[in-house]
Amino acid sequence: MTDFPSIDRYLENNQQSHLDQLFELLRIASISADSSKKSEMAQAANWVEAKLASGGLKTKQIAGNGPPLVYGETEPVPGKPVVLVYGHYDVQPADPLHLWKTPPFEPTVRDGNIVARGSTDDKGQMLTHVQSVLAWNATGQKLPLQVKFLIEGQEENGSEVLAEKLPDIGAELACDVIVISDSSQYGKGRPAITYGLRGIAYYEIRVHGPNADLHSGSFGGAVANPGLALARILTEMKTADGRIQLPGFYDPVIELEQSERDMWNSLGFSDEAMAKQLGVTELVGEAGYTTLERRWARPTMDVHGLLGGYQGEGGKTIIPSWNGAKISFRLVPNQDPKQVTQQLTEFLAAHTPPGVTVELIDLHGGRGVVVDPNSKFMKGASAAVEAGFGVPPVLIREGGSIPIVAKMVEATSADVLLLGWGQDDDGAHSPNEKFSEQDYYRGIKASSRLWHHLAI
Ligand code: BES
Ligand code: MN
Ligand code: MN
Repeated sequence: MTDFPSIDRYLENNQQSHLDQLFELLRIASISADSSKKSEMAQAANWVEAKLASGGLKTKQIAGNGPPLVYGETEPVPGKPVVLVYGHYDVQPADPLHLWKTPPFEPTVRDGNIVARGSTDDKGQMLTHVQSVLAWNATGQKLPLQVKFLIEGQEENGSEVLAEKLPDIGAELACDVIVISDSSQYGKGRPAITYGLRGIAYYEIRVHGPNADLHSGSFGGAVANPGLALARILTEMKTADGRIQLPGFYDPVIELEQSERDMWNSLGFSDEAMAKQLGVTELVGEAGYTTLERRWARPTMDVHGLLGGYQGEGGKTIIPSWNGAKISFRLVPNQDPKQVTQQLTEFLAAHTPPGVTVELIDLHGGRGVVVDPNSKFMKGASAAVEAGFGVPPVLIREGGSIPIVAKMVEATSADVLLLGWGQDDDGAHSPNEKFSEQDYYRGIKASSRLWHHLAI
């Protein structure tokens, strides 16, 4: 018999220590996109491995062409399911630094929130599962099933090492269910289980004009302007009412089920409240769909950055020799990023204005996932979330992407439980990223119950 009161008491008595430990990890600037941070990546990997090992797990690091994977496992329990916890110890770059009220790698608690780069995405959320396994161990309880951890250091930058190692680590991956806490609750006090994530296909487009920047007085009117050509291409790619114009783009898209639309309509989402929170005049998107439908279950295209041309102070009268854009498509399950590359290539060939050439650079991609909301582990997960958060979770999908998940599912045929402890306004990837201190403790408690509920 599991002694839950003893685990609960342990968790209550160790909140400060759990916070201190998260702070230690948050102080390590493990920015996977930054090639000058190799030693921080190694430091973060070592920290995670040592933490797992301190709870008696058998651990190792799996080296590849980039930051190592950290792996750990508890004792096998014959006849019981195997759980694989996936998470990431890398974080997004912290710039623009001047917008942080306190430095990104000097964690602090402000207004009940843990503020630091990586607090919600994903160090804080990931650590909840580590702490809960350690709590079972520290209170002398034997886990009712085997828990494996696979924590990578490149989720924010393409997951190359994990993708490359997938075929070699079949034994480590083998599991019945993958548990991931790297997403959000529906809202404050409204925990959720997420049954779908969007995929992504990310590109850089470069429009090349003259062989050097030209005097726009001498040559303007005679030479195609790459900036204008790029603008034309981008606006033709997505109409004002939000439809993407790549040939065949919507063909594989699965329409929403009426039951999903009904379920989401009953969540009480407010467009006005979100517009206010984000500081925009109104929300916009594909005609015929609600905001939640557009964010969770419809594909879209966005521009992330515009490149080239004159970006300095004052004016400079040139026709730039080139301009570029970083863009991505969010995909829904059944869309394939490779197919999108093909469609984009065709689109660009047909839409390149006269006088310029277009170069397409394929940066990375991954398919979306939808899991069965009635899978056999859902009930147990729901009970665990309720035990940790005090209310039962609602079922949602989310718009973000964890591209490696589809590949892990393909490799294992396992079920997936996306148990997000964050909030939409946590500021992941933004300045002043935060994670609610209470949600960190609630997440640990929910996780401590999860092992019990998944074993039956
Ligand atoms: N934790 C996020 C994914 C996420 C965000 C899930 C919001 C659910 C809601 C993850 O770390 C992330 O940022 N993913 C990137 C993937 C990209 C770098 C390939 C994303 O979604 O942009
Ligand atoms: Mn993440
Ligand atoms: Mn992220």
